[in-house]
Amino acid sequence: VARGVTAPDLVGRHVVVSAGGTREPLDPVRFLGNRSSGKQGYALARTAIARGARVTLIEANTGLPDPAGADVVHVGTAVDLREAVTKAAEDADCVVMAAAVADFRPANRVGGKIKKTDAEPEPIALAKNPDILAEISGDRARAGQVVVGFAAETDDVLANGRAKLARKGCDLLVVNRVGEELTFGTDVNEAVILAADGTETPVPHGPKEDLAEVVWDLVVSRFG
Ligand code: CTP
Ligand code: CA
Repeated sequence: VARGVTAPDLVGRHVVVSAGGTREPLDPVRFLGNRSSGKQGYALARTAIARGARVTLIEANTGLPDPAGADVVHVGTAVDLREAVTKAAEDADCVVMAAAVADFRPANRVGGKIKKTDAEPEPIALAKNPDILAEISGDRARAGQVVVGFAAETDDVLANGRAKLARKGCDLLVVNRVGEELTFGTDVNEAVILAADGTETPVPHGPKEDLAEVVWDLVVSRFG
């Protein structure tokens, strides 16, 4: 799909996109977070609006301005994100989990700021966060709802992606190669989109908007 050329093929559809990265508080001033900028999720939201969709954008810690025309819900933690996505998914035709969700959160959130003392620091105990993508995929709020995940992989990118697609039970998994210099915070992306039906769609290195358009093409082709 060429940039700027958009088909109104999402008219009448409600799509939910999560974007950004969750932050899991340790105390009132500190958190465990990740490097997700939210740019890919925002590109998905903007392109879906341009193609006529009603868009609910669930935003976590991006600092980006709300895209015009989207219903935006701001969240902080993975647990907040789960609540917002689950609610918005109730009447959604498609859910795209572009957000980087923290796998773990500090098991104990301290009410006051943790102070350093002369003693060695305590280790941080962690608890598992819910896997929102697996939950949404396994318990579709609507028949025919299309669920899309993103996977950031560093080593065995495709093999990890295929295993992840099967594990999550989503319809499409956008697999990105990441590293400190790649993807995070940039305006470009390179990916392979793996589908549950076994097809693979490589997307060449290019603007996050272009990848978003290919994602919507594949989603539209899965609507019955
Ligand atoms: N995801 C989610 N809930 C989580 C973790 C991840 O919904 N608790 C979603 C992400 O939004 C993304 C997809 O799952 O769409 C894949 O995330 P990723 O971190 O790559 O997968 P994990 O299963 O957490 O595997 P890994 O051990 O590689 O982190
Ligand atoms: Ca993870």
